[in-house]
Amino acid sequence: MNPVLTRLGGYPLAAFQDLAREMRAQPEPTYDFSIGDPVEPTPPFIRRALIDALDPVSQYPTAAGIPELRQAIAGWVGRRFGVAVDPDTQVLPSSGSKEAIFHTPLALLDAGSSRRHAIWGAPGYQPYERGALFAGGESDAVDLSPERGWRLELDALGEARLDRAFIAWLNYPHNPTGAVVDEAYLRAQLATARAHGVVLGSDECYVEIHPPSGPRPPSLLQAADGDLSGVLVYFSLSKRSGMTGYRCGAVVGDPALIAAQRIMRPNIGTGSPEFVQRAAVAAWSDDDHVAERREVFEEKRRIVLAFLDEVGLRTGGSEATFYLWVAAPGGDDVAYAQALLARRIIASPGSAFGPAGTGWLRLALVPDAEGCAAAVDVWRTAIAEGALPGG
Ligand SMILES: Cc1ncc(COP(=O)(O)O)c(C=O)c1O
Repeated sequence: MNPVLTRLGGYPLAAFQDLAREMRAQPEPTYDFSIGDPVEPTPPFIRRALIDALDPVSQYPTAAGIPELRQAIAGWVGRRFGVAVDPDTQVLPSSGSKEAIFHTPLALLDAGSSRRHAIWGAPGYQPYERGALFAGGESDAVDLSPERGWRLELDALGEARLDRAFIAWLNYPHNPTGAVVDEAYLRAQLATARAHGVVLGSDECYVEIHPPSGPRPPSLLQAADGDLSGVLVYFSLSKRSGMTGYRCGAVVGDPALIAAQRIMRPNIGTGSPEFVQRAAVAAWSDDDHVAERREVFEEKRRIVLAFLDEVGLRTGGSEATFYLWVAAPGGDDVAYAQALLARRIIASPGSAFGPAGTGWLRLALVPDAEGCAAAVDVWRTAIAEGALPGG
């Protein structure tokens, strides 16, 4: 067995997850806020595009994707961020952003060199760490804190730590905290990464999921001011267009780094089927359905935030994404999540995302608005009965 698997071990909260799984299988209503996989249907015009593209003859897709898809991605980048990118040299489609993030070290890491570390912020998304480990590198997790707004500050790490890194990962809007950053922050991280020869990977799969009336989260592409050297940005249709099951993402950035991945990726076989790529063209080319989805998440967000406020439960981050990051009263996130589970409400304990998440709960706004309203009623009753502390 690969020793990396042994080293990673089991999931830290396996017992909690087993219980949650049992609960989902039971007939009684369960309010599941634990998995970031929303249930709103994929817009009909996207499904139609997939069906219309189902050819009688099925052939292998290419790693570079169909030109129309790369153009559609570049078109969206232009509309959304005002940044012009070359669809042939600066854009690469992927089968969702997870695999692209995980596989990136296979293209960029020289496992025999002194630069083998991947820097990432914890609590955070595991593929930043795991991609590096499976490619023969090392993980350098940096604890994020509420005092610093859950921001990963590269210049605070010191020379030695930066000089042994081959990549540093940012992820704003951030999973699990929902924290956001501004363009000045991104610009500062890019300057530090460049000064130390570190590639800056920015996972922006939630960049379209923000309160409709709030500021639109910026992209590292904007902060790069026309020079994409050392920059890789990861996008996804999963959350933007309700397409988690389609597996559609994109990598945009430095032509040399894109070229390396374009050479590496045919070895894996991650090209999306062409009918999926055609659906992705439709999705990237339309912005109206995304605005509608934002309204749907906003309604759910308002319901849950109003309740948290009413019972005195404090949130951190929670500025964008469809996650709310709630301080567990008493500081024991696992105990609070277990008590919620007893009322059939499933929330993720923050410690599931790394020790720095201890004391927090992540609520993914996945149930529909009715489900959110019903869940907060159950939660309110549990607090009134003394089964759960309020804030
Ligand atoms: C921070 C982050 N990045 C990337 C992904 C992967 O998304 P996908 O592979 O569906 O594009 C997720 C999924 O939940 C995520 O939370």
